[in-house]
Amino acid sequence: MRSVDGSIDMTIIRVRSSFAGRPDRELVWPPGLSAFEALRAGGQPIGSSCSGETVCGRCTVRVLQGAKSVPGPQPDERALLDARNAEADERLACRLQTDHETSVVVLTTHYW
Ligand code: FES
Repeated sequence: MRSVDGSIDMTIIRVRSSFAGRPDRELVWPPGLSAFEALRAGGQPIGSSCSGETVCGRCTVRVLQGAKSVPGPQPDERALLDARNAEADERLACRLQTDHETSVVVLTTHYW
């Protein structure tokens, strides 16, 4: 979303559903929240057994579009992704932040 002055102040997460019978959706990603928090606030099911503390490694999402506009993983996230043999486009939603320089990030989630 663009402000009156043309700057982007809100990112939209487009969630490509990986759940049978659930449609794709769009959720607001407010500044300062992780993707995990934004997904949960929007009612999107996402795996977790540590409630976003970057311990369980269960909240992986695939970044299908907008990866260049999100900062790369920090060492703790990288270690969990490596331990789970994550693919290159996978991130932990609880560590995924947006720089809000982009308007849309497309993710797909799974549950366990
Ligand atoms: S919610 Fe546990 S690592 Fe992200």
